[in-house]
Amino acid sequence: MLQIRHLIEPTDFSVKELEDLFELADLIINDPKKYLHQCDGKIMVTLFYEPSTRTRFSFEAAMMRLGGSVLGFSDPNSSSTAKGENIPDTIRIVSGYSDIAVMRHPVEGAPKAASLFSRIPVINAGDGGHQHPTQTLTDLYTIRSKFGRLDHLKVGICGDLKYGRTTHSLVKAMSRYPGNEFVFISPEELRMPQYICDDLDRSGSASYRECRTIEEGIGEVDILYMTRVQRERFSDLDEYERVKDSCILNVEKMKLAKEDMIVLHPLPRVNEIHYDVDKDKRACYFEQAENGMYVRMSLIMLLLNETGDFYNGRVLSVNESVMSFVDLDKCRNPKCITQIEPSLRQRFLTYGNGVKVCDYCGAVLE
Ligand code: CP
Repeated sequence: MLQIRHLIEPTDFSVKELEDLFELADLIINDPKKYLHQCDGKIMVTLFYEPSTRTRFSFEAAMMRLGGSVLGFSDPNSSSTAKGENIPDTIRIVSGYSDIAVMRHPVEGAPKAASLFSRIPVINAGDGGHQHPTQTLTDLYTIRSKFGRLDHLKVGICGDLKYGRTTHSLVKAMSRYPGNEFVFISPEELRMPQYICDDLDRSGSASYRECRTIEEGIGEVDILYMTRVQRERFSDLDEYERVKDSCILNVEKMKLAKEDMIVLHPLPRVNEIHYDVDKDKRACYFEQAENGMYVRMSLIMLLLNETGDFYNGRVLSVNESVMSFVDLDKCRNPKCITQIEPSLRQRFLTYGNGVKVCDYCGAVLE
């Protein structure tokens, strides 16, 4: 029997597997009709405990364009979550009704927890301020289509680097390709989390520098990845008010950028990109959002092993993940799923350098 694969972290697929996924997305874009019945009879369940436009609709459109069907909720209060049903029970139940699950949750590590109890592939569609791996697939695919490569690029990442899960996933993913550099642009209060900077320092996989304004970084980057300040993640709304207008891209600042620089944004935007910038040919965020649907079609086919002749019958290999183990320690991240689901066993991963991280939310064990 085939073992199932999940997509929880942006690094769950190898670089080679990602290239296969992007090549398949290229083929789908070139001839979408060919794939209209690729997932006939298959059902996707979308479990969205948080609002979404792009991720949910693009996943649902992707499944429908492959001939499959979709069920699910966009408001957990319309499900038995409102009666107190937990994640392990929810995923056990929907595993019996569907073939693949897509979960977005405000709590860090919730999709990982679901995957441990699931009989079907689980896709992380964003977990709190932690990770958003399918946004990263979309970002990488768009960068690859614009530059023809994913290496030796300078990436400016701007805005809310503290809570912006897409930025965390993008750094993790891009630092696997050689020669990439990052410029982290944010106010002091919204700096890239220390554990991500520590990861880069430890691995030496990519260099980075930090600055506080767009003007200081925009001239040198190939990609400017803008993000929204994530109001919903602030416990202190006065702090949100203080920082919300720190990094705003406008036409004047675009004049400082390279001619072939591209602007990406996972969207939704609030005020961090002036509407006038939309007319600039370097503004690629709407194209990026559309790419998301094709990349997700490719992902669904790969996880369901419904790739037709793309692989000549080959299927995804089982993920050789790092060994994890039950531990007496307890994750101290107050936003970790283990804090709200007491039935979950603690699980930690120990890296070669001895650093121990929670297998659900990635928090370093102090
Ligand atoms: N980029 C993204 O995750 O958008 P949604 O929140 O609309 O899904």
